[in-house]
Amino acid sequence: MIGFGEHTAEDRGVAGSNPASLILFLNSSHLILKVMSSTMVIGSQFGDEGKGKLVDCLAEQSDYVVRYQGGNNAGHTVVVKDKVFKLHLLPSGVVRKKRSLIGTGVSLDPRVLKQEIDGLKEKGIKVNLGIDPRCQIIMPWHNVIDIGKEEALKEKNIGTTRRGVGPCYADRASRIGIRFDDLVDEKRLKEKLDFNYPYYKNVCEKILNKHFDFTQEEVFKQYSALGKEFKEMLTDVSLEVNECLDKGKKVLFEGAQGTLLDNDFGTYPFVTSSHPTSGAATTGIGISPQKISERIIGIVKAYTTRVGSGPFPTEISGEEADFLRNAGNEFGTTTGRARRVGWLDLPMLRMSNRLNGFTEIAITKLDVLSGIKKLLIADYYLIEGKKFFDFPYANHLVAKAVPHYSEFKGFSINKEQQKELKEKGYSALDEHAKKYLEFIEKELNVPIKTVSFGAERDDTCSKDSKIC
Ligand code: IMP
Ligand code: MG
Repeated sequence: MIGFGEHTAEDRGVAGSNPASLILFLNSSHLILKVMSSTMVIGSQFGDEGKGKLVDCLAEQSDYVVRYQGGNNAGHTVVVKDKVFKLHLLPSGVVRKKRSLIGTGVSLDPRVLKQEIDGLKEKGIKVNLGIDPRCQIIMPWHNVIDIGKEEALKEKNIGTTRRGVGPCYADRASRIGIRFDDLVDEKRLKEKLDFNYPYYKNVCEKILNKHFDFTQEEVFKQYSALGKEFKEMLTDVSLEVNECLDKGKKVLFEGAQGTLLDNDFGTYPFVTSSHPTSGAATTGIGISPQKISERIIGIVKAYTTRVGSGPFPTEISGEEADFLRNAGNEFGTTTGRARRVGWLDLPMLRMSNRLNGFTEIAITKLDVLSGIKKLLIADYYLIEGKKFFDFPYANHLVAKAVPHYSEFKGFSINKEQQKELKEKGYSALDEHAKKYLEFIEKELNVPIKTVSFGAERDDTCSKDSKIC
């Protein structure tokens, strides 16, 4: 079997035994579309870049869709014909009835898993899902701790989604976590609960002043029933993904959240507890970086938003902010919170590109900027008189950052123009919109291959081949 990271005959344009590479050879003029066997979709900002729509389009062209980090703190809206699907945990591929996998890097709440699977069933969709037995399970006390800790932090709270995701990851690192493999075996689950339940009851009651409204027996009953229900979904995701890539199947890696929420490189402590970066796919699935570096799409919203607390150098307020928030419907999918809004930030995106290695960029929600007379892009920060082209490593530096802006003339994308863009593609874009995009492209030195300018599935254009 030929590995994709190796330099094979296919690289030199010679069709080999690998089916995906064969297509690559035959369709070399459409190199970017439908031919890569691995595609990754990564949020380049604070999450909510509009990954859902592109992930759905790409999922349709894939054989497998895999999630590898985060949990049900994510919120993806997928619209198929007249049906709207709001997913938090399941890979978006389930809606397209693709083989969908949840890798070990995901914190999995089986109660939410059941809700989402039952909801899809009601809409006539049977999921084809595999879950890695190593996945850490979100237990009821993780929610209690998430809330209790936020309250204890008072005005310094992180603004978490309160889904228990962070405390679940903490248990993994402390090595007291409960895995999916424990859930499917009553004896193992009992043993784990015998430690975890009293331990966390103590912590919650004595430290956080929070009381459990569930007994150990109730937790056991609920979780062992969930384990039984999902037992047949257990699969070694690492093996399955490696094998299907070796066979030349097309695999989509669906990132959740955004790079600036990375547990190490984001605006710590105002971050999530996983790594929403491309590298996390290797450890969150169990796969070599060699196999998954072909196509890494950075999703960049045409402006910036953030939900929750933490630094945001290009944040704006007042009428302009209200306009952006309403035009972009910037309210959280998971918590309904109003998102903070601001201008596009290149130091942020430069770091994002450095960490992820984007092979291309997809710009989303360009239409939302329509009607704003003067647009700004932060090209660098001034911190104590020094220019910073990259995002600083610590919040105490970010706090002093004064963004230096480049100005751009506004543009409009009305219904008529949207129609034209759909027909003629990128060339039909307003000249000022092109200038805005070309500046980003030049500064990041990454091609913008896709531009999304509306909520509809086909509201996208491209310089060469369209994703949707
Ligand atoms: P947690 O991941 O629930 O612990 O929340 C930590 C921070 O990440 C908070 O500021 C959340 O608002 C933010 N966050 C978590 N998931 C998402 C997401 O999917 N989109 C945007 N922000 C998120
Ligand atoms: Mg979201």
